[in-house]
Parts: sequence; structure tokens; C-alpha cells
Amino acid sequence: MSAVVVYGATGHTGRFVVEELLRRGLPTVISGRDATTLETLASKWGDVDVRPAAVDNPHSLDQALENAAAVINCAGPFAVTAAPVIEAAGRARIPYVDVAAEIEANLSTIDRQATTPVVPAMAFYGGLGDLLTTAVLGERTAADEVHVAYGLSSWHPTPGTRAAGQISHDRRAGRRVRFTGGELQYHDDRLLQQDWIFPEPFGRRRVIAEFTMADVITVPSHIAVPEVRTYMSVEAAGDLADADTPAPAPVDALGRSDQSFVVDVLVRSDGVERRATARGQDIYAISAPLAVEAVRRILAGQTRTTGVASAGAMFDAADFLKSLPLEVELP
Ligand SMILES: NC(=O)c1ccc[n+]([C@@H]2O[C@H](COP(=O)([O-])OP(=O)(O)OC[C@H]3O[C@@H](n4cnc5c(N)ncnc54)[C@H](OP(=O)(O)O)[C@@H]3O)[C@@H](O)[C@H]2O)c1
Repeated sequence: MSAVVVYGATGHTGRFVVEELLRRGLPTVISGRDATTLETLASKWGDVDVRPAAVDNPHSLDQALENAAAVINCAGPFAVTAAPVIEAAGRARIPYVDVAAEIEANLSTIDRQATTPVVPAMAFYGGLGDLLTTAVLGERTAADEVHVAYGLSSWHPTPGTRAAGQISHDRRAGRRVRFTGGELQYHDDRLLQQDWIFPEPFGRRRVIAEFTMADVITVPSHIAVPEVRTYMSVEAAGDLADADTPAPAPVDALGRSDQSFVVDVLVRSDGVERRATARGQDIYAISAPLAVEAVRRILAGQTRTTGVASAGAMFDAADFLKSLPLEVELP
């Protein structure tokens, strides 16, 4: 079998993705802009090929993707990396999957045309909420409101997360964004807090309302819904806002941090409320099985559409969720 290329393999998330591919015995190529770090990692991982490439050098990207089966892009900011890697994947005629959590970059990707599969935000933010929402809706393709509440015990952001936040902030000229009335709306309203009742043991928590995440792009990309709101536990939002919060520290053999999460999705349609939740450990680590399982399903032909599509549109959502190392409750 041809190899899966991980672009951005030197990053925190990229390393989880490489290790997930290796655990599944899939041939793996590691790529990124830093040849020295790639070589160091290759000597630790053993059975991987190293193909350094830079996003401003299309020829190097073409060489990195030559004869590959698919590429998973873990290099952010995606405002910089997504377009060149998607274009290289198109030239190589191979599927592209990324873990982008930058709303404007996700939107640029969703708005593209492609003949090969392209799946943006195939990760904790954007991907998991979309799969839960789609599973809740079953055969329905419309809803009145979708609410995705993130209950994170803490959030120790990586440099890549901080860079993504900064680039999104700059692209919006410091304004906030929300999805209402069927469209993205930029505004200067203050962020409000409210209570959210998560399933036990997380229970009642203060959350920041309209803490807008990538689900506002992925969910409405295939579900007719005028209101999509995302919420974040105040503890996690506080960690993220604090410049002194350290990067995540591993506490187990898989390299996961002690962060626990619950994603609680509430869908209102035709006067009925339906709910789905997923619980797990470490939002970066869980992004690896999300992205790798996406590639596995695309290569096995287990897809519902082709071209550019979010997780919920591309895959059988309920079945996909069952494959993940998560505790999932569906209606
Ligand atoms: N949707 C989600 O839930 C989710 C989950 C995980 C991660 N992410 C996103 O994924 C991105 C990476 O996160 P991370 O945690 O892995 O961060 P990280 O540990 O800081 O790694 C960043 C990676 O991006 C690479 N990179 C940065 N700028 C680049 C450029 N101009 N050209 C090529 N490569 C570049 C870095 O390469 P060097 O080593 O050469 O610097 C490194 O491999 C972030 O944007 C983050 O928001 C999203």
C-alpha cells in the first residue's frame, strides 16, 4: 500500500497522527519544513520515510506527495498551509485531510471545488461536533438550532493553537464572529457567560457563550440550519487567554495530557430537542484517530460523497463515532 504523508509531523498534533498511523501499521511519510527535526523524529519512530517540503515551494510538496495514498495536514496556521497543500494533493490526485481549527481557513477550504476528497477540520474542533450533530439528526438534513458545548477540564494550548488564535484574531481585525441567521456575522459584542448543564460527572458549569469554533463552518456546510452556537467552559477559556499557561504535558504511555473533555451537542428541530455527548481525554490526542480513521475510510471507499466535505457529510457519522476511543452517547 502507498504511504500516508503527514505534513507538519514535527508538531504536537502531527506526532500523535504519525503514532496513530504506525499503530495501525500504515506506511507513513513524515513531512514538514524542518528537515533536521524530521530526521531526529524518524530515528525515534524507525519505519517512516522523511520528505521535507515547504509550503512556498510547490515542487518540494509535489515530491513529498509523490506516489502517496493521502496527505494529512497538521501544520498550522492553516491560513498559510492549507491552500498550497490542498493544491499539491490535487496535482497528486490524492485525498487531503486537515485538522484546521481556523474558521476563515476552514471556510476557504469548504468553498473550494475538488475532484478528490478534501476534508477540513477532521479533528476535535469542527470534526467531532459535526459527527455528533449528524448522528443526532440521522436522515434529517435540516435543524432549527445546533448548540455545541465544550466542557474541558483545562486547556494547555500548544504554540500552534496560540498561532491559530492570533492569525484568526488578526484576520478579523480583533472582531468576534458567530453564526446566526444562516451566516457568519462579525461583531463587537461582549462575550457573555451562562450555565450549561453537562452530563454527570461534569455537571453544571459556567461557559462562555458564542466562543465560536470550527463547527460553525462544518455543520452548516451540509445541514440547513440558521443557528449554530458553540460554548466553552470558563476554566478552559481562561487557560487559553493566559499567556503563561504551559503547553500540554504527557501523563500516560500514549503521550496524552490529563485534560478530560465532554462535548455536549444539543439539536433542536421541529420542536424536539435531541442530544449527543462524547467524553474522552486530551483534545490533541483524540484528533489523531479522527484524522487517521477519515483517511482509512476514504481509502476503503467508505464515504457518502466526494470532493470537499466536512466529516458529517463525508462519513456515516454514527458508525464513525463508534470507531473512536471515546465514550459516546447518542439518542
Ligand atoms: N481542530 C482541532 O481540534 C485541532 C486539534 C489539534 C490541532 N489543531 C490545529 O493544528 C495546528 C497545529 O497544532 P499543534 O498542536 O500540532 O501545534 P504545534 O505543536 O505548535 O505544531 C505546529 C506545526 O505546524 C508547523 N508549521 C507552522 N508554520 C508552518 C509553515 N509556515 N510551514 C510549514 N509548517 C508550519 C510546525 O512546523 P515546525 O516544527 O517546523 O515549526 C509544526 O509542525 C494548529 O493550527 C492547531 O490549531 C486543531
